[in-house]
Amino acid sequence: MKLKLAGPATAESTSDALVLLEFEGSPRPDLGASVSALRESGEITGKTLELTLLHNVVGFKASRVLLAGAGKLEKFDIATLRKIAAAAARLLKGKGVKTAAIALESGYDSPDHLAATVEAVIEACWEADALKTKADKDGSKVIEELTVCAASVAGSEAAMAAGKTIGEAANLARDIAVEPPNKLTPMALAARAQAMAKANGLTCEVLDQDRMRQLGMGALLGVAQGSAEPPALIVIEYKPANPTSNDVLALVGKGVTFDTGGISIKPSDSMEKMKYDMCGAAAVIGAMQAIAQLKPGVTVLGIVPTVENMPGSKAQRPGDIVTSLSGKTIEVINTDAEGRLILADAITYAKQLGCTHMVDAATLTGAIVVALGHFQSGCFTNNDALLAQWMSAAKSSGEKMWHLPVDEDYAELLKNPYADLSNIGGRAGGASSAAAFIQEFVGDTPWIHVDIAGTAWHDEKKPYAAMGPTAVPLGTFVKLAANWK
Ligand code: BES
Ligand code: ZN
Ligand code: ZN
Repeated sequence: MKLKLAGPATAESTSDALVLLEFEGSPRPDLGASVSALRESGEITGKTLELTLLHNVVGFKASRVLLAGAGKLEKFDIATLRKIAAAAARLLKGKGVKTAAIALESGYDSPDHLAATVEAVIEACWEADALKTKADKDGSKVIEELTVCAASVAGSEAAMAAGKTIGEAANLARDIAVEPPNKLTPMALAARAQAMAKANGLTCEVLDQDRMRQLGMGALLGVAQGSAEPPALIVIEYKPANPTSNDVLALVGKGVTFDTGGISIKPSDSMEKMKYDMCGAAAVIGAMQAIAQLKPGVTVLGIVPTVENMPGSKAQRPGDIVTSLSGKTIEVINTDAEGRLILADAITYAKQLGCTHMVDAATLTGAIVVALGHFQSGCFTNNDALLAQWMSAAKSSGEKMWHLPVDEDYAELLKNPYADLSNIGGRAGGASSAAAFIQEFVGDTPWIHVDIAGTAWHDEKKPYAAMGPTAVPLGTFVKLAANWK
């Protein structure tokens, strides 16, 4: 998408469509009598996400004006702006509009507003139908050019470019996440990471099964052994040219390309949804692209353990005891709790590579979906200072996060008579005992675990978003690195 920053003179915009915001209770003065009549009849109220497409509005050069309800002015924030810009873009794209403009007027025209608008519009234009063959599918309609009508201040252009970088990275993550499990095998996921790294000047190393065997990654390899598809451990590295910190931040993403549950097999109903079990991995790969382009001052490692969890004849059994890279032994009570097993070895490896801080993202538990639904991701930590940084990054990315507990009580649940720990802790508090399992391998390294099982995928389309992968928590990953303290 081509981006332009034009001045605030909206009437002069020659785009196919111009988006103007209308606040509830404060009607715009610039739209003339026919719009006043629509207000009087109650068709235009300014309520959030109300969209009214007007043609040939007197005094405007743009052939369409899309009046977008923005709610009450005192409640208006960047999160609302994101939703409105996205919904407007999706409506216009559906109408075949190729060039769109959006006006950000005084009071909501800061660099942060510009960045959020651009990012939202780019993400709004993504569609999940890449493998449909119909020429007129949703994904073949594109907005080619977006103009933001706003006063240019220091940082406006850079903010728009950053918004574009993050939006495109999120769409890359979604392109990867939406690929079906017969095409996106662990090796294919590694190839996607390598292609991204090559295109963005990052290094990317892929550890294969033999190498992981030499290193002793028994927890990861145990999950992989039921599948004909070989596993991989992907390591992407960003090194700043001008470091502003000696810290090494590791972003770790669960990359289960399909989760049948293994021998503890899942019910067949909705099992196809478990193609999404690599959304943490996709978010890490996309985030590394944005980080390569935004060039923060901190070293960042992107680490993706990737496997297919299948019940093949060589599959691990409930009752197997595996030895992880850390040396700790684990009794596999349920082969469906596989994400934490592959994360255990990936996290130990990240520590061996010298990471000083770590964030992992994983579609880890059904329990988090019960707790938080599809609105917020659950966050767990062993370090309040890092959590504060993470939450402030989340505020700026617009991705909602909720802090949940992990402590020694939950770790108790993992006690096992035959091995150092069990891979499950029972139904009650399932998201927290899963976090406690991961923490056993993290140790004292400052760490956040983000359970995205409820937020990584939307089963229905929204006015402001396609159905399918959301790329969460890519935006927060990128802001965390960009604002590293
Ligand atoms: N990938 C799933 C998490 C999941 C389950 C997401 C259901 C959405 C809906 C994960 O590997 C898993 O199967 N977790 C089990 C753990 C249990 C066996 C302790 C779960 O949450 O049911
Ligand atoms: Zn599972
Ligand atoms: Zn899983």
